[in-house]
Amino acid sequence: MNNDIKGAMTVESDVMINAKGIIKKFNIGKENELEILHGIDLTVRKGEFVSIVGQSGSGKSTLMNIIGILDKPTGGEYTLDGIDISKAKDNQLSAIRNQKIGFVFQTYNLIPRTSAIKNVELPMLYAGVKARERKERAMELLKLVGMDKRMDHKPDELSGGQKQRVAIARALVNDPAIILADEPTGALDSGTGRAVMDLFHKLNEEKGITIVLITHSNELAEETKRVLTLRDGLIIGERKGQNSEVFR
Ligand SMILES: Nc1ncnc2c1ncn2[C@@H]1O[C@H](COP(=O)(O)OP(=O)(O)OP(=O)(O)O)[C@@H](O)[C@H]1O
Ligand SMILES: [Mg+2]
Repeated sequence: MNNDIKGAMTVESDVMINAKGIIKKFNIGKENELEILHGIDLTVRKGEFVSIVGQSGSGKSTLMNIIGILDKPTGGEYTLDGIDISKAKDNQLSAIRNQKIGFVFQTYNLIPRTSAIKNVELPMLYAGVKARERKERAMELLKLVGMDKRMDHKPDELSGGQKQRVAIARALVNDPAIILADEPTGALDSGTGRAVMDLFHKLNEEKGITIVLITHSNELAEETKRVLTLRDGLIIGERKGQNSEVFR
């Protein structure tokens, strides 16, 4: 474990995400102050595949940003993989994020004019991994996502689904405990979206990676073990995915 994380409080348990009373306000103290999340309680166990659904503007991405330590809550407590994020120091937060979380976004967020393999290598370059190991690991992950034949293609030479698979390979480089995916299939046709979902199921089942998926597709949400519904900044419902058994 990286020294930056060592100082943070860690407690072993089977819980990956434990968020209590999460409040998020924007423009605090200004005329246009807004409270977007009104006290979210969320527990996700290790190895779960959970989806979050809800109307546009209900606060899904805001919540995801907090879970992913990209943003801080205004109130509440949050523990990720035994690390009390509320008590972690600022300089520990990015180390925790880099080591624990893989992000996948609707818009892929690949670096343009840079080959698939270099895109996957990039987080390892920042982490100081040596060139040879970077390349081997990137090749291994591109193979896992079925992109080993297109490693030298640049993003604009790839289809949407292929770009997303490269982005997923990149999300896996640091062997994350959890993948946070915000509308990963939102820009894809249903067949390509299907392939991306199959990949998530494989990562969840075979590698035990915890996954939190935000989606507008009820059909895809029903494949996950648990579906949480967000409305106006509150979780208003929780159910078992109707087709979760089919995808085991
Ligand atoms: N930085 C910000 N400053 C002010 N308001 C914000 C900010 N970020 C988000 N909001 C507001 O918070 C609300 C929730 O936004 P959020 O992006 O979390 O919704 P969402 O559920 O992800 O929607 P979508 O399905 O369209 O992606 C919206 O009303 C949005 O305008
Ligand atoms: Mg969103």
